[in-house]
Order: sequence, then structure tokens, then C-alpha cells
Amino acid sequence: PPPIEAFGAGKVILLGEHSVVYGHPALAGPLSQGVTARGVPAKRCQLTLPPHLSRHQRAQLTAAFARAAKATGEPAVKVTLDADLPLAVGLGSSAALSVACSRLLLKAAGKEPTAKETARVAWEMEQEFHGTPSGVDHTTSAEERLVLYRRKPGTAVGKGRVVDSPKSLSVVVALAGERSPTKATVGALRERQARWPERYRRLFTEIGRVASEGAEAVASGDLAALGDAMNVNQGLLAALGLSSPPLEEMVYRLRGLGALGAKLTGAGGDGGAVIGLFLEPAPAVAKLTALGVRCFSSQLAGPRAT
Ligand code: PMV
Repeated sequence: PPPIEAFGAGKVILLGEHSVVYGHPALAGPLSQGVTARGVPAKRCQLTLPPHLSRHQRAQLTAAFARAAKATGEPAVKVTLDADLPLAVGLGSSAALSVACSRLLLKAAGKEPTAKETARVAWEMEQEFHGTPSGVDHTTSAEERLVLYRRKPGTAVGKGRVVDSPKSLSVVVALAGERSPTKATVGALRERQARWPERYRRLFTEIGRVASEGAEAVASGDLAALGDAMNVNQGLLAALGLSSPPLEEMVYRLRGLGALGAKLTGAGGDGGAVIGLFLEPAPAVAKLTALGVRCFSSQLAGPRAT
């Protein structure tokens, strides 16, 4: 049989990171960048590890793959991986990898890789990569659509409701500073909220409302309202103690370049990814690149230019 291929998209959270861990909604969309898995027939189900991984990463990836292999009945393929996404900067690379592997193994096993089935297998893998993620990453990647995601209370799984956008929705993703591990920012926030629960509950609730309003803004094609929701969300993330000078500086840079809204995306902390909503992302990417900023643009939703 010919080789088979499957793609898993990276993701950005437009609104609602961190509060999503506490059961509030988050709006997230797939990047066109991601991970591609390729499979060729083999004697047994196996993964060729990509080069340049640490021992810890090799062990983690091997264990995650074994879980997906088991969940799909160990189809006899040899799998290789290829990423065009910056890794470990909060753009969902582990979920992209999990979704690419899961889709490929489902296909190889002769099963239909529906979004639901793919998310189920990818979730197995994600548990090796993260402790207790909210599930927003792999759900967005498996759906490959803009989703308003909500975790079921007390569990690590949730549901994404697809949000249709009548307008083209494009972001510039720019990297700033040194990224903090997600576990560290999530953990430190948990300590603050355990100490002052009422104050933090109010902030989480407000972020959840802003995320829901942002989803409505998308559905009605009101990108100015979505941009404003992103700016307000950035202020609330700063209030939660999740921003820092490199992230703030990049947020203001993107706004200065004409973003309708800009904010950190993902875990935040000392650095990481920042997104700006642009009607025309290309000039902003060109300017930032000339300044030496690592950046790219991606269309998250809406009608595609042919
Ligand atoms: O790992 P990141 O940077 O994609 O962040 C994930 C988003 C959080 O809400 C902070 C954590 C989670 O599990 O949803």
C-alpha cells in the first residue's frame, strides 16, 4: 500500500487561557502550521523519533505513541514526524503532534478519523505530555475549526462548539522573551487563587464573559468588537499576574502596527507567543521580520482567498 499522511494543526487561544482551566469558556482556533505524520507499511507499529530530542522528550514521545498505538489496535506502520511550527512556545505543538499521530494511526487501522475519535486518541497522548491540561489544545486541533471550548467541571475533558466566521480572521503570531513552562504559570496562579479565591474567581468569570462575547463578535463579523475583547483580556491576564515586560512590549508593538486587538496567547509568564488581529497581516509581518522578531501570520477562520 502507498504511504499515508495526516496533519495536526497548532492552535492559538484568542480569548480565555488560564480561566479555561477553571471551567470558563475559551475561544481558540487552528493554525495553518502544524505537524505532519507519515506512515509506511512495517512489521509492527513503531515511531521513528525525530532528531535533536532530549532524553526526557524521547521517553515522553515514545510513551505517548505507545498509548495511541494501543488505542488504535497497533496498526502495522512505521511513523515519521515533520513540524513547521515553533515547538514548545504555547502554540499547541504537543497537541498538533498528538492529533497528527492519532489521525494517522486511525487511518492505518482502517478507521474513520473523525474529529471526535481523533480527539479521543490524542487525549491519551496529551496525558503523557501534560499533567492535567484543560483539553482546549487537542480539541481545537482535532476539530480544525474555531471553537468555543469549555471543560466539564471537575474533569480534564470538555466540548468545543464550532464558531463560524463570516469574515476572514487572521492573526500575526510573534515570539517575545523566554517562555515560561505552562506548568509553572498554571501552578503559581493556582496558589494565588487558593489564597485569595474571591478576587480570582471574579477575574476568571470576567475573562469567561469576554471570551463568550468574543465568540459572538466573530459570528456576527464584528472584528472591532473581537479586537476590543482581546485588549480587555490582555488587561485581565496582566491582573492575574501572567504578563511581563517582553510580552507587554510586543502587545504594544502589534497595536502600533495597526492590530485591532493584541494579547499574549497560551501560558504567558516571562515570555512566549503574542497574537495580534489584523485585517491585513502581511505588512506587519514584513515590518516585524525586518526588526528581527520571529513571527508569522495565519488565517484561523472565515472564507479563504483562492
Ligand atoms: O501550553 P500553552 O501555552 O498552550 O497554554 C495552555 C493554556 C492554559 O490555559 C494556560 C493551560 C490549559 O491547560 O488550558
